[in-house]
Amino acid sequence: MATSSASTDRPLADTNVSAESQARIDWFQKYTLGTYIRPALILSHGKGCWLYDTDGRKFLDFNAGIAVNALGHGDSQVAELVSDQASKLIHTSNLYHNEWAGRLAEALIETTKQLEEARVGPGETGFIPGKVFFTNSGTEANEGALKFAKKYGNLQAQAQPNRYPNGKYEVVAFSRGFHGRSMGALSATAAPKYQKPFFPLVPGFVHCEYNDVEAVRRLIRDETCAVILEPVQGEGGVFQATPEFLQAVRERCDQVGALLIYDEIQCGIGRTGKLWGFQNFPASCRPDILCMAKPLANGVPIGAVMMTDAVAALINAGDHGTTFGGNPLACRVGLHVFQRIAQPAFLSHVLTTGQYLQDALRAKVATKHPTIIKEIRGLGLMVGMEFTVDPAPLVKIAREVGILIITAGSNTVRLVPPLTLSNAEVDTAVDILGVALDQFVASLNACKSG
Ligand SMILES: Cc1ncc(COP(=O)(O)O)c(C=O)c1O
Repeated sequence: MATSSASTDRPLADTNVSAESQARIDWFQKYTLGTYIRPALILSHGKGCWLYDTDGRKFLDFNAGIAVNALGHGDSQVAELVSDQASKLIHTSNLYHNEWAGRLAEALIETTKQLEEARVGPGETGFIPGKVFFTNSGTEANEGALKFAKKYGNLQAQAQPNRYPNGKYEVVAFSRGFHGRSMGALSATAAPKYQKPFFPLVPGFVHCEYNDVEAVRRLIRDETCAVILEPVQGEGGVFQATPEFLQAVRERCDQVGALLIYDEIQCGIGRTGKLWGFQNFPASCRPDILCMAKPLANGVPIGAVMMTDAVAALINAGDHGTTFGGNPLACRVGLHVFQRIAQPAFLSHVLTTGQYLQDALRAKVATKHPTIIKEIRGLGLMVGMEFTVDPAPLVKIAREVGILIITAGSNTVRLVPPLTLSNAEVDTAVDILGVALDQFVASLNACKSG
């Protein structure tokens, strides 16, 4: 029985939570803001792709903390580094230099430059970053990038009033994009469910249909200071850009003098089997600014904005700042994680395991449920399963048979496991998902007949 590899003594159903754990959940809920609806379990530790709760239950983790724990849980090298650095120096503020922020910035820039130089054709330029600004999260990385772009736009408008008589402050973002919850990042996130309670938002954000080349040509205009997009959308439902779309965006940015920001917070750092998501596209689709976060330190909070020298030259001391960003603990772990993920063998493992996962899902799951599974799509280990029905109830059913998954966009289940996932773990996951889907279909049929 497939569930045996995920099951433990205590049955996995939410209702089997122990009285002790339930009491702790009630206490937790008494004191913490209810911004999330959480299942009745408390996770206590993990190893590789597996998570355990305080009742000794075991789950195969296909969320990885929403595309964060790229090296899995309980990685011994990460644990040693955290412990060693914590005993030496955790935080200094940005009033002083620290060794690890410099070393991580160097690794991000030099590795990206090498990869870009290796892939560009004659006469092409790829993304040649020159500077990094460290943050604590993806939202803060995007917020920083948007501020840098606003400053760029204001300087351009001041320097060329005849070319930009209406100013240059608009930011073009796209349908299904997700960029974070702060006021700037939220203003770029075109989802009414996230935006509506917080109106009025920051002015100047324009939303365009993703992958619509004609709309790009119309909406990116002289007033535009920046365009922000995910080369592969995560939260919006695992959709990848078309090369024609990215090329049109780049071309239009060059025509109107706008900066192109790639939000690679979810699709970057190996998730798609390339170091950067945009490296799945022609070299001409290069950004001016790239934002990253989630997996960079395997769960230790960190984010970063990587930009060309031309953008960096516009930012002066005092323009932007952070207390925690770039601290030695997060940066030392970040350097280690980045160096491991950037290895060609690691990236090709992501690619082949992702393909194996997609093939197995198609062969064993999609073919069995053709009426409810519409499409399996994705790149590397960023995989979406689109349904013809709302798959939200499947998340609970799947957890109760031993696998953690999440939804994304509309009617899509997102699979973003640790990048260290093995083919054997794929087989286990697909078996457990098969059990969950049978139960899901049975519940749908019961609803129909009831
Ligand atoms: C593409 C993208 N951008 C930004 C964010 C926000 O990042 P954070 O939650 O670290 O602030 C997310 C988070 O899911 C994301 O997927």
